[in-house]
Amino acid sequence: MGWFYDSVCLNIIAICVILVVGIVTYCKWVYKYWERLGVPYLVPSIPFGNNKELILLNQSVGELSAQHYRTAKAKGYKHVGIFGFIRPEYMPIDLKLLKHILAKDFNYFSDRGFYYDEEHDPLSGNLFLLGGNKWKKIRSKLTPTFTSGKMKMMFNSVIECSQMLKQAIDTVHEQGPIDIKHFLERFTTDVIGSCAFGLNCNSFNDSDSDFCKYSKRIFSPTAFENLKGLCTVYFRSIGKFFKMNVIPADVSEFFLTTVRNTVEYRKANNVIRNDFLQILIDLMKDDSGLTIEEIAAQAFVFFGAGFETSSTVMMYCLLELSLNQDIQEKLRAEVNNVMNRHDQVTYDGLNDLVYMRQVLDEVMRKHPPLAFLTRACSKDYQIPNTNVVLKKDTAILISIFGLQHDPEYFPEPEKFDPERFSPENKEKLTPFSYMPFGEGPRLCIGLRFAFLQMKIALSMLLKDYKFSINEKTELPLKINPKGFVMSPMASIWLDVEKI
Ligand code: HEM
Repeated sequence: MGWFYDSVCLNIIAICVILVVGIVTYCKWVYKYWERLGVPYLVPSIPFGNNKELILLNQSVGELSAQHYRTAKAKGYKHVGIFGFIRPEYMPIDLKLLKHILAKDFNYFSDRGFYYDEEHDPLSGNLFLLGGNKWKKIRSKLTPTFTSGKMKMMFNSVIECSQMLKQAIDTVHEQGPIDIKHFLERFTTDVIGSCAFGLNCNSFNDSDSDFCKYSKRIFSPTAFENLKGLCTVYFRSIGKFFKMNVIPADVSEFFLTTVRNTVEYRKANNVIRNDFLQILIDLMKDDSGLTIEEIAAQAFVFFGAGFETSSTVMMYCLLELSLNQDIQEKLRAEVNNVMNRHDQVTYDGLNDLVYMRQVLDEVMRKHPPLAFLTRACSKDYQIPNTNVVLKKDTAILISIFGLQHDPEYFPEPEKFDPERFSPENKEKLTPFSYMPFGEGPRLCIGLRFAFLQMKIALSMLLKDYKFSINEKTELPLKINPKGFVMSPMASIWLDVEKI
């Protein structure tokens, strides 16, 4: 029998060796992709490509793409090829190329390139993930949702939620430093719960509510869900083959049921409210014929795209104001002045908060919550003034963080300086070097709403409280390597003093 086991072992070893040699040879061939195309590239390693630090959880995707941007720029490249595992990704560095991809030649790059499957995972059929004609249709239907008139309708709901935020801070601020993100997240949950789902979440008093529970679930995937996510990004055909869902089944069920119940309730009781959900319900009635699943997917993405981005920007804003007391004083003076003139926070008064806009613009330059953009090439595309042709389906990666920290466009990039965005200086900004909300026809649709809620909450807080940094805050910040949104690993602790 000995010879039998020996030969089985030898066969297994031989198969393993053949497999490893096969994989290594295949990777080596794939890793010559950019060389064959004539695009300069960053040397990849088997099997991670240029993603090793991301997979080993040493860097977030935002930091890693910024590092690729800096390396390529230092070498004088106008564009660079990289590899996410074995997937070739194209990163434009030169601003003229960026302009072509994001705006001028948008018809080649209208897709974001993320995986979605409307049939098996209905909430993935949302504006952020959709591509092609379906994206075009939904985008044109939703654009009127975010006009100034519609924002005005939601103003009172946001004011109510910010009053709850203030009350919550009032109750605890004397007990010691506060974890500011914790409060701001509850505020944005309440706002979007109210405006997109028609619910009074009251998450300051009821943080165990189902809405809070499932909202947290979206941003804290399990290890298996993370693995599935990676698979759908880098090995899309595997995701498609196994009909993988990107939104966990329990989360999907909860949000779908919530929307269904609310819509039925409003119909049965003739309730009409001034919120996003009402606008979506009205779209179901018109000739566009959106289904309940389609409107639930859009309500869901308003939550997914608006909740963490806005709370993260407000958190960084209060952090920078705590580190730069002179700027905090100047901003408070503006808030008091505008509030006195208008008697309280009013919709029109928000437009007079010119310095606050400068501060927020600078916060989003230094700390863009979404630090990169993606696009996918929908048909072969010749890169202008070169012989290089990008093949259909090539993934495009743009480093917002890299651009916004590039000393060529923003001297002393680590310095927090709202003067960069003063009305005179704003005109001098180099186009496509600053894009915290993205650029071109796929620009963030919720930009106006984001400013509305951030300006209201910050005005209410700065009017009555002085913020300063507590020694429990670990500086410099270490970014959470698992996050899609660029937020710190540890909490930001601020001392809050009533004035
Ligand atoms: C400070 C807060 C926010 C930031 C920094 C932000 C940033 C972004 C960025 C960078 C994109 C990608 C744009 C591109 O690919 O060119 C985006 C897309 C999007 N955002 Fe926002 N966002 C914010 C708040 C919001 C809010 C409050 C909502 C909804 C209520 C929202 C809804 C969306 C949607 C639906 C998309 C996809 C648009 C499309 O593909 O057509 N965002 N956002």
